[in-house]
Amino acid sequence: MNAYEGTENRKWEKISVLMVGTGGYAGLYVKELLHGPCASQFEIVGAVDPYADQSESGRELVQHGVPVYHTMEEFYQKQAAQVAFIVTPIHLHAYQAQYCMEHGSDVLCEKPICASLKDAEEMMAVRDRTGRRLAIGFQWSFNESILKLKQDIMTGLYGKVRRIRTIVYFPRGLDYYHRGTGWAGKRRLASGEWLLDSVASNAAAHYLHNMLFLTGNEVNRSAEPIQIEAEIYRANPIEMFDTCALRIRTANDIELLFYATHAVPQKQERRPEFIIEGELGMVTLCYDKEREIMTGRLIDGRNIFYGEPSADNMHKLSYMADAIRGNAHLPCIPETALPHLKCICALAESFHETPQFTDDFIHYDEDTRQYTCIGLGETLNMCWERGSLPYEEGVSWAQESHVIALQGDEISFEKGNGKRKV
Ligand SMILES: NC(=O)c1ccc[n+]([C@@H]2O[C@H](COP(=O)([O-])OP(=O)(O)OC[C@H]3O[C@@H](n4cnc5c(N)ncnc54)[C@H](O)[C@@H]3O)[C@@H](O)[C@H]2O)c1
Repeated sequence: MNAYEGTENRKWEKISVLMVGTGGYAGLYVKELLHGPCASQFEIVGAVDPYADQSESGRELVQHGVPVYHTMEEFYQKQAAQVAFIVTPIHLHAYQAQYCMEHGSDVLCEKPICASLKDAEEMMAVRDRTGRRLAIGFQWSFNESILKLKQDIMTGLYGKVRRIRTIVYFPRGLDYYHRGTGWAGKRRLASGEWLLDSVASNAAAHYLHNMLFLTGNEVNRSAEPIQIEAEIYRANPIEMFDTCALRIRTANDIELLFYATHAVPQKQERRPEFIIEGELGMVTLCYDKEREIMTGRLIDGRNIFYGEPSADNMHKLSYMADAIRGNAHLPCIPETALPHLKCICALAESFHETPQFTDDFIHYDEDTRQYTCIGLGETLNMCWERGSLPYEEGVSWAQESHVIALQGDEISFEKGNGKRKV
């Protein structure tokens, strides 16, 4: 029993927080916890980050008098926390989450859950053994509008969902790949830990997960992928991929199409858009300037206007507070995030090396320090509109997809679905 267990129902007390990671995306947590609406609910009692002095938010914590440690071990030798927020590079998630739960803290761990199915199993086993809570920070899954949409899908408002198509372009240059401790775009570290960091597991992971999440049969479950037809590519000098076009078939017979890239020019940035096609209606996410417009259109003529999926990206923190105080279910737990990880692992197992776009299509821009593939934005958009993959469209740089079958933890694959326009 940890030092705080007896206080869980004292609603007036702030919840004590350990921040694991202080810079990069963790900087948003620090800002929210010190200055945002969450400041009234939480108190950061300590932080773990060997590089805390390298970020503004890390230095701000020190100025606030928060003790900052280099390791988890040092923190727990001296202190305790009701909850740990883990916002560190992917290969650290599994060990750090387990260590926190073993030492009495509930955990909100950033996405993706981790980089191997074995690690995910171990995280769940520790959660079950310790009785701690473990949430995974895919923020759209904590958003009221996405949860309302999921409810509407589950109750059959849109009829049987046949297909979802998602497209997202987040241009990223070498600065992105060289940030932090240099783990971005890597398959695994020299020390052997898996990372599998790619456009699908990191920056655009939310939108692949979101399709699986929306088609799950329960609030905190996602649909199981059973087959992936996959094309992955890189314009950057990285081990993993900066571009993908995926056609996923789920166990509940839904087709999910996912087009994501970092390798388009800055001016082609495109926030995530999706189209859900059901027997009784469709739902789209598009934009009016900066505003997200998520609308359902039923074949009987009714329109349903949902709110914005990104309206409250830090809502996951107050969800965690509500769960700790005993009155909220967590909508994104390891089981919810696992189907996304299965896709990531299946891609890594199937592609030991990432095909590079052909040389004549790769462009390097000195000003933005960015590699792009010429015409990629237009190609992926055409595929998104048609529900096809680049190879099927006869695109010259495209390589035949890998067809990957997923059965439980078993993954098998063959090359090609045989479809190509001539
Ligand atoms: N939910 C989102 O929208 C979102 C956005 C960006 C990143 N992320 C996730 O957040 C996590 C961190 O990503 P990032 O881009 O901020 O990474 P990053 O490399 O910038 O590192 C984040 C922090 O972790 C610290 N760190 C490194 N090694 C550490 C260690 N051994 N112990 C403790 N701290 C350590 C770094 O010093 C840094 O402060 C990843 O899981 C990423 O996928 C989520």
